[in-house]
Amino acid sequence: MTKLLAFTDPHFTKPGATIIGLDTAARFKTSLNAALHDHPDASALILLGDLAHHGEVDAYARLKDALADVPCPLIPMLGNHDRRETFLQAFPDAPQSPSGHIQTAIQHGPHHIITLDTLDGPPYSPGHHAGWLCDDRLDWLEARLAETMGAPTLICCHHPPFDTGIVGMDAIKLRNGADVLSRLKAHGNAMLVCGHIHRTISGVAQGVPYTMLKSTGHQAPLDFVTLDSALSIDEPPGYGVILLQPDGITIHHQDVLPRQQVRRDGHSESAPPA
Ligand SMILES: [Fe+2]
Repeated sequence: MTKLLAFTDPHFTKPGATIIGLDTAARFKTSLNAALHDHPDASALILLGDLAHHGEVDAYARLKDALADVPCPLIPMLGNHDRRETFLQAFPDAPQSPSGHIQTAIQHGPHHIITLDTLDGPPYSPGHHAGWLCDDRLDWLEARLAETMGAPTLICCHHPPFDTGIVGMDAIKLRNGADVLSRLKAHGNAMLVCGHIHRTISGVAQGVPYTMLKSTGHQAPLDFVTLDSALSIDEPPGYGVILLQPDGITIHHQDVLPRQQVRRDGHSESAPPA
């Protein structure tokens, strides 16, 4: 069994800045420390995008510092809040496809992992947060899927390529998501993991199973009505633990809370107070 750690939407800011009053860098470090403490055997750490809130060089430098002691390989990805050029200033060795997009394909035993760069740009339009995969990236995905020969494949994609019911975020999903889903459906053995929404959500889209991780910083409220992608709420952060197992792929969601004592009396009940 291979274990991977996955974090999404840390939204690093410049020093001193906050998002809904939260120090997102501090929250990320808390999640990272908890994950590395509990899972020192992880084989890699995936960062599913929105690494910096405004794509600033300073924010990426802070993220790089926070990751300095991670003992396993890093697989960084970009989201709509990122900027490819400034990211590469801080992470010049990040894996890129031949078209210059921040995406890669990795094999762990019989399992394959494909990461996608869904950032739409350059040019970057202010306030534009939907995702896009150009023909170069779709062709690259098609070629990488073919190389897997139908083996279990984890597809890491910041923007969900489908609607979730969170209408404010559905308005800024992967715009050509149907192209991606049709390819994954044809592959027949792929699972999607996404970020972007800042909530834990699981389901199936066009026959493709998916889950998405909550942010290490601020979360999104469960709101099926309000057409606003900026709604945020201070709920606990979390991360994902991905197990590549002989039967397939399992993804666990772990909230990061003050450390709780694990007890063995979960199947019994206490007598009511007299
Ligand atoms: Fe985000």
